[in-house]
Amino acid sequence: MAPQCNGARFSRAELLQASVELRHHALGYVKSMALRCAVKLGVANAIHRRGGVASLDDLLAELSLDASRLPCLRSVMRALAASGVFATASDDGEHYRLTAVSSLLVDDSNGISGSLAPATLLFVAPPFVAPVVNLAEWLLAGAGGAAATTAFEMTHGEDLWGVLGRDAALRGFFDGALASDTRFVMDMAIRVSPKVFDGIASLVDVAGGAGAAAQAVAAAFPRIKCTVLDLPQVIDALAPADGLVDYVVGDMMEFVPPADAVLLKNVLHDWSDQECVNILKRCKEAIPSQEARGKVIVIDVVLGSSPHAICSETQLWLHLLMLTITTGKERNEKEWRRLFSEAGFSDYKIRQFLGHLSIIEVFP
Ligand SMILES: C[S@@+](CC[C@H](N)C(=O)[O-])C[C@H]1O[C@@H](n2cnc3c(N)ncnc32)[C@H](O)[C@@H]1O
Repeated sequence: MAPQCNGARFSRAELLQASVELRHHALGYVKSMALRCAVKLGVANAIHRRGGVASLDDLLAELSLDASRLPCLRSVMRALAASGVFATASDDGEHYRLTAVSSLLVDDSNGISGSLAPATLLFVAPPFVAPVVNLAEWLLAGAGGAAATTAFEMTHGEDLWGVLGRDAALRGFFDGALASDTRFVMDMAIRVSPKVFDGIASLVDVAGGAGAAAQAVAAAFPRIKCTVLDLPQVIDALAPADGLVDYVVGDMMEFVPPADAVLLKNVLHDWSDQECVNILKRCKEAIPSQEARGKVIVIDVVLGSSPHAICSETQLWLHLLMLTITTGKERNEKEWRRLFSEAGFSDYKIRQFLGHLSIIEVFP
């Protein structure tokens, strides 16, 4: 007789298959950490330097690894090739080449916009992984008394912005990672949807970090005067102004400098609904009417926007991660619509442009 669970009967073959799937899910972190290992070592750059194909011996030499590490390096490469990050280039599994995925980790990535290695390392960095490890403990701790608002806060004793404010090295790592992601995303956004920037003479990149988005807009559309607004811990650490964009210290919860358009790239997913409405109200005060082409440009996830399983699943992992490390979350269209309406906006237009990301133009 087939084993039974809550009335459902599964065959032994199904259960055997299920046990493999269960183990596959449980070992997902080993894949993440093998990727972290390869990115930290610079494997993609090493293969690139060898002309696109490298043997394990080449990699040992390129990465200055001791010969005794060969079996482990072989295992890392074999596992990442099975996941499609690299590909085997010989039948004996001793040679590897880049795939489209690992080509994004090369410093002069496809001539597009630089490497995504820093952005990739952010997702697998211990300070961001640890709160995810603590998720069950945080859920069990409940919400009363001195309970931490997020698993990040429970793990680090402070929220993300507090930790970044007191740890300059982590702040530099975080800003560099976001900048690498932003260079790639903005390059795509400007190529795919240049019309979004039509008729705009000035733009404020709110919570713009080191200014990668504003720099991309200013380089592509020299007529647009671009300004970056962020916290003092970010703006004060930047090199003297590059002349391409202006940098302003400020708190977006209080004031957003006037401009034709406000850009919010990967900002609103850091904040609760109430905080988002507040930020959006400050943005609305900063822009002119819709007739005068005023708009807010949001670049973020719209949950469920893609028919592709890998995009949808990636969006759900990002959603869970945002819930874990911030007071924010990813949102579906209905949730976005409610935020825009509560902040007093009259209309919006969504364009999905980069797999898991969308551009949302929001009109006053
Ligand atoms: C996830 S990062 C996004 C940076 C940038 N938009 C990008 O995508 O590259 C969020 C940014 O919000 C900034 N931030 C947090 N609180 C802020 C506030 N109250 N006012 C202005 N910026 C703030 C952080 O310093 C950080 O640079």
